Amino acid sequence: MGRIKVLLVFGTRPDAIKMAPLYLELKRRPEFECLACVTAQHRKMLDDVLDAFGIKPDYDLDLMKEDQTLAYITAGVLTGLGEVLRREKPALVLVHGDTTTAFSAALAAFYEKIPVGHVEAGLRSYDRYFPFPEEMNRCLAGRLAEYHFAPTARNAENLRRENIMGKIFITGNTVIDAMKYTVGDGAFKTPALAALNFTSRRVIVMTCHRRESYGEAIAGIFRAVRRVAESFDDVSVVYPVHLSPYIRETASKILGGAPNILLIDPLDAAEMHRLISKCFFVMTDSGGLQEEAPALGKPVLVLRRETERPEAVESGTVSLAGVDENAVYTCACALLNNDSEYDRMARAVNPYGDGNACPRIADAISHCFGGGSARPEDFCP
Ligand code: UD1
Ligand code: UDP
Repeated sequence: MGRIKVLLVFGTRPDAIKMAPLYLELKRRPEFECLACVTAQHRKMLDDVLDAFGIKPDYDLDLMKEDQTLAYITAGVLTGLGEVLRREKPALVLVHGDTTTAFSAALAAFYEKIPVGHVEAGLRSYDRYFPFPEEMNRCLAGRLAEYHFAPTARNAENLRRENIMGKIFITGNTVIDAMKYTVGDGAFKTPALAALNFTSRRVIVMTCHRRESYGEAIAGIFRAVRRVAESFDDVSVVYPVHLSPYIRETASKILGGAPNILLIDPLDAAEMHRLISKCFFVMTDSGGLQEEAPALGKPVLVLRRETERPEAVESGTVSLAGVDENAVYTCACALLNNDSEYDRMARAVNPYGDGNACPRIADAISHCFGGGSARPEDFCP
């Protein structure tokens, strides 16, 4: 029996962080021939992750350009990946989550009649424009995929309700596997963070970058954060600003110059996880941070109208603050002023996995492609 040739395709910071441990798991198993093709939908933010995990991709489509459109990324992935697929003829293509890289790579594989496995399958907000374009990207990637690796039982249930074609496995989220590589006791490498006193100051970590919030929503969120920083002398806000030119310009216009707001460049994953583990709480519109911060016992205020991660909300560590300036300000003040509210949210809970999602996915692939592994037990939190 020959080895199972699997091609992983990813291209942004979040899908790279969440695919990296899976790539390493497949590489280490003799039954797989494992290749990686990066689209470079992101460049620097992707390369930081590749360096952190020591991954050298076999193919690099090198797509990123400033202010790229969704159509540009989609067309570039379809053309570039199509050529790679025709040359390599993998038995399976793995894509991750809800990026435009994921959807267009799944479509490119489908056009070559190569089966697709969708990692982080079944998350849904049920609103086609929130988050945009991610909700539609993950629905479409799910339609194209034959193997669905759902982080939670609820994600699997979402897929079953849609009568999705193919096999569903409940695996946990690979982000928890990734944290095994990144979370440690080390000191900060970033001078501005090394200089911060996390004992005398309450440090709020924020990130914000979603396309559907461009415009008044982002401006309102930023004004709220500035008001929070001005209202509390003992608070410092640390914001590693996404490299999107729109976000950088808006952040520096509204948040720049405030003495207790630190605008810094994106951090590598280990430094970011170190920062979360030392902070007071997190304000974010990121998907991944809604999974990581609860695992590290930190409350999260979600800067969005909806979330496709209801497990974290139900477990009590994540709360939807919305995008309205006054609502965001009020939610942040409540966490800063009310110890019992803070204590209620600051509990380490982790509905997203036991750090073994990658071995489960590898076993599932082996099982489906005749490598002999028994079907893995579904993950049960
Ligand atoms: C993308 C994903 C989003 C994910 C986010 C994570 C889509 C449609 N969106 O959104 O789901 O949450 O990544 O960060 O797939 N840039 C750089 N260097 C980098 C990365 C980005 O300069 O290393 C700048 C470029 O000008 C680029 C812009 O950021 O054009 C936007 O990048 P893009 O991937 O199109 O959108 P994101 O908002 O990052
Ligand atoms: N992250 C990082 N450096 C940063 C900000 C975020 O490594 O400066 C990590 C974060 O810990 C999480 C992932 O990037 O693992 C989330 O990515 P992002 O917010 O870009 O995308 P999303 O999760 O919203 O798709």
